[in-house]
Amino acid sequence: MASREFSITQDVIDRMDPKDERFGQVMTSLIQHLHNFIRDVQLTEAEWMAAIQFLTKTGQITTDRRQEFILLSDTLGVSILVDAINNRLPNGATEQTVLGPYYWEGAPRLPMGSDIAEGIKGEPCYFSGVVTSLDGKPIEGAEIDVWSGDGEGNYDMQLGTGMRCRAIFTTGKDGKYWFRSVKPYYYPVPDDGPVGDMLRAMGRHPNRPGHTHFILRAPGHKGIVTHLFPSDSPYLDTDTVFGVKDGLIVDFVRHEPGAAPTGEKVDQPFHTCEYNFQLAPLDAVEPKAA
Ligand code: BEZ
Ligand code: FE
Repeated sequence: MASREFSITQDVIDRMDPKDERFGQVMTSLIQHLHNFIRDVQLTEAEWMAAIQFLTKTGQITTDRRQEFILLSDTLGVSILVDAINNRLPNGATEQTVLGPYYWEGAPRLPMGSDIAEGIKGEPCYFSGVVTSLDGKPIEGAEIDVWSGDGEGNYDMQLGTGMRCRAIFTTGKDGKYWFRSVKPYYYPVPDDGPVGDMLRAMGRHPNRPGHTHFILRAPGHKGIVTHLFPSDSPYLDTDTVFGVKDGLIVDFVRHEPGAAPTGEKVDQPFHTCEYNFQLAPLDAVEPKAA
């Protein structure tokens, strides 16, 4: 008979009689992998207790405004792996990345061309482009839900200012969008809790490269959650949540003070970011991703 070190795995699996077949499949695999992991590293009792304490702290620091378990998932690459498995998009479609904790539903619907960063810190940036389908045809009625931190990497939620630097725009017949915001700046994920302790113990920094968040929704198309990253931002190669994808890195162009693309005069250096979003028609995506 195999020793208890090995026989325990099948015993735990055999004890189940799940009503839900998928639940049984997931739990069987989880038990096998968890036990194999413990045998692999020959987990000590002190390490087992440290893990229990870590998970306890992760739960204790989580509130309706701070989700430490999602941050744990993000920093271990789990969130982006789940996204990759569940959102296999066809070639040419704009890629997805993580949502993050700073999405705030109900941003104001503003007219195209608005300045969403009025009164906040940062270098002005004019965003523009076209939302098209995979065949390049402009999409009318596409919604662009955009948000970012200020030019120092702080979100309105962290500053307690009420909604800032967020808006929803809707494209017209030509599929074009344009608005003024700020050039996004790199920032650390919340690192004063157990996930921060874990990152430090791993010898990792907590930073994300600068990025502007977008959710795109369009009739008849697969919506996406994504970011645009300035190509000159630090941490593009070592984003702590593994969210960077090559196709989302954009050359933000710096301009001296003068006329902006909208015609208005800007009395400080400003940037432009041009990017076309390509969305996949619903019938071009795998059923799982619909
Ligand atoms: C963010 O981009 O806002 C973010 C994503 C994952 C974890 C923390 C922040
Ligand atoms: Fe962010």
